[in-house]
Amino acid sequence: MTRSFDVIVVGSGIAGLSFALKLAQTGHSVAILTKKTRAESNTNYAQGGIAVVTSKTDDFDSHVRDTLVAGDGLCNEKVVREIVSDGPQRVKELVDLGLSFSRGPSGAYDLGREGGHTKRRILHVKDMTGKAIEEALLHAVGQEPNISLFEHFFAIDVLTTAKLRKGRGPNRVVGLYALDVRDERVDTFCAPAVVLSTGGAGQVYLYTTNPDIATGDGIAMAYRAGVEVRNMEFIQFHPTALYSLSGARFLISEAVRGEGAILRNAAGEAFMRGYHEMADLAPRDIVARAIDSEMKKSGSPHVWLDITHRNEAFLRERFPQIYQTCRKLGINIAKDMIPVVPAAHYTCGGVATNLSAETELDGLYACGEVACTGLHGANRLASNSLLEAVVMAHRGAESVRRYVASAKKSPMPSIPDWVDLGGGDVDERVVISHNWDELRRTMWDYVSIVRTTKRLERARTRIGNLAKEIHDYYWNFSVDPRLLELRNLIEVAELVVTCALQRHESRGLHAIADYPRKLKVARDSRVRRS
Ligand code: FAD
Ligand code: SIN
Repeated sequence: MTRSFDVIVVGSGIAGLSFALKLAQTGHSVAILTKKTRAESNTNYAQGGIAVVTSKTDDFDSHVRDTLVAGDGLCNEKVVREIVSDGPQRVKELVDLGLSFSRGPSGAYDLGREGGHTKRRILHVKDMTGKAIEEALLHAVGQEPNISLFEHFFAIDVLTTAKLRKGRGPNRVVGLYALDVRDERVDTFCAPAVVLSTGGAGQVYLYTTNPDIATGDGIAMAYRAGVEVRNMEFIQFHPTALYSLSGARFLISEAVRGEGAILRNAAGEAFMRGYHEMADLAPRDIVARAIDSEMKKSGSPHVWLDITHRNEAFLRERFPQIYQTCRKLGINIAKDMIPVVPAAHYTCGGVATNLSAETELDGLYACGEVACTGLHGANRLASNSLLEAVVMAHRGAESVRRYVASAKKSPMPSIPDWVDLGGGDVDERVVISHNWDELRRTMWDYVSIVRTTKRLERARTRIGNLAKEIHDYYWNFSVDPRLLELRNLIEVAELVVTCALQRHESRGLHAIADYPRKLKVARDSRVRRS
């Protein structure tokens, strides 16, 4: 089946939904494709909130400075300033959609604090900010006649004129192929503009706070379309995921440390003062490395997070989800310390875009965690991700409007139907799942918080073998979401390792024993398919 729209948005998290709404409001027909149910996204699990300047005691300069310090010299200052200063207006639009941020007894916003912030500036809805955002945006999308939302549609690859015409003429986007997961059929979606809002790639690691959808599909798709991908070595490990033997990593928000929680090692000692003057509220890369180091010293599989000095009524009210989740596991956070470990959390790099969400391919846009705008540098400041998504959706929509108006003047080429190669031995699907495990363990063991060149090279060899296996053996299977995700995860893993091997210094989230120092000049790492 072939369908045509003005714009196709891939992903229904904060970035995709915000982008689609902005375009639909100006009369554009928009398809939102999402590979699972509509709310399933990283956004839905966001806890801490949105960093934005709203208080009289705060100012843009301070938010900019905190972002630059956390980013360890690699942020693009112009980008940081523009995103920070657009923040209040974009966040007000969320409030206008009905989002009700938590307020204190005086009626003023209850501003949270997280690592790397020198001020309280985080708007939140208790510890379930993302769920509230997702609900507000989905409600607005549901009211919008210009938006068609396709659940269980898995975007496979972006289609370009270069692909269709075998490289002749100028290259631009014409649509994409997507797997209708329930009907097991590949459909064609035609549009002059495609927005990738597919989120990050936490699933490339064995232990992650991210839901299953976070398989880096948009990054891999853009890379296959020949677009530049940047700074993929900067995978952010959140310092405090709840430790469990099952391997699940439920997030214990940094906002808990913002309310006074203290990290303690196996001996019960508070250790963060020894690592940074901001102690438990130091930037995330520093706290995660400190925990890693304490765990290695003691041999303990976790450290402790201690908030037992706050009273139970306060904790139950401020952190209802965290309180209840821990309680179900037999941990009363008002009385017991919480066992925590770092886990892969956020992809700071991604598809290179400018401040209009434009990639270097005409008609291809990227917005949200999938993109690399220059805001986060070598380490994202806490709660700057939701902010970036809303600001960039607004800016990107302006550019898409202009682009679509001019692109519509030239005829769209006809797109051939997807050819299914068919087949695939069901038994072999077990091997696909083994390959998933092997990849994620390799990344965890060899490309983790502290790296070495030798380990990165070992990872590269193993990932290369997996890539070859996928290409030579499984690619003639009927399309299957798990296989498509594995292909994307392998591509993302290769990008992380390639960028990591390019960087001969330790900066932000990239700590490498062979190059312990920071180079004087900070440069982005860049990869483009040749
Ligand atoms: P997502 O919200 O991840 O949405 C991606 C969408 O793309 C999903 O709908 C997915 O199904 C879809 N998709 C992916 N691939 C395909 C495909 N091939 N075809 C079709 N659809 C596809 N950030 C903050 O700023 N503040 C916080 O408090 C905060 N807390 C967090 C807590 C947790 C537990 C996690 C995991 C992250 C947190 N973050 C936080 C990070 C933040 O939530 C994400 O970076 C942000 O929500 C990303 O939004 P997005 O719209 O770019 O992507
Ligand atoms: C958290 O609540 O700790 C997550 C915030 C973020 O990732 O920005």
